[in-house]
Amino acid sequence: MASGSAATISNPGDVSCIRSNPIGRPVRIHADREANVVATLTLAFSSDPANRWCWPGTADYLAGFPQFVRALGGNAFAAECAFEIAGGSGAALWLPPGVEPDEAELIAIVQRTVHASRQNDLYEVMQQMARFHPQTPHWYLPFIGVEPLQQCRGLGTLLLRPILDRCDDERLPAYLESTNPRNVPFYESLGFRGVGMIQAGTSPRIVPMLREPQ
Ligand SMILES: CC(C)(COP(=O)(O)OP(=O)(O)OC[C@H]1O[C@@H](n2cnc3c(N)ncnc32)[C@H](O)[C@@H]1OP(=O)(O)O)[C@@H](O)C(=O)NCCC(=O)NCCS
Repeated sequence: MASGSAATISNPGDVSCIRSNPIGRPVRIHADREANVVATLTLAFSSDPANRWCWPGTADYLAGFPQFVRALGGNAFAAECAFEIAGGSGAALWLPPGVEPDEAELIAIVQRTVHASRQNDLYEVMQQMARFHPQTPHWYLPFIGVEPLQQCRGLGTLLLRPILDRCDDERLPAYLESTNPRNVPFYESLGFRGVGMIQAGTSPRIVPMLREPQ
């Protein structure tokens, strides 16, 4: 196997980022790219603490998480608020003000795919999420992911820029739940601030984060 330069390939096992030139710019995409987005996010979230708590088994994760992406973030495509970068190595799904996830399908997915012993804790997590979710117009980021071999090259930062700039132009807040504590500094560097903590039963901690327009 050809050896990759440290400037172009970061080891996903490393705990620190190797900074290099990011590839390209984010592009707005349509529903014909949904399968690629779901695949990229499924790779990216494969070691995410909260999502793997929902689906600890590999096959269960590969069956459940893609459905979850479509139900929570799929409406980004019709709203024209889905983005890819670097040929699809990274993707972000945003829901603009007034566009909601498919809540009924989310509940159905939990019932179908999450082990019964975790469902009650997960419903409690979802209720806590609802309590932190802003009630005034805002942009919601249900998913951002960069496939592991391409992380730490600046792609995630670039992916978020178009909608964060729009939030600033329109004087609207942005909101997300960080399902991995490792990402909190990344979001803070973009202007998000933690507004609480979400945790129930055996679940990992999730940090709801709000970004006021800047
Ligand atoms: C979070 C994520 C989208 C960031 O994308 P990215 O392209 O790696 O981010 P960038 O290169 O623009 O920024 C890197 C920053 O993110 C953090 N970070 C990202 N990946 C990291 C890693 N493997 N190890 C340590 N820090 C990491 C660091 O704080 C880093 O800060 P720096 O700029 O001071 O080096 C990406 O790491 C990812 O897909 N993670 C898995 C899925 C996920 O957690 N999604 C978000 C759930 S809330």
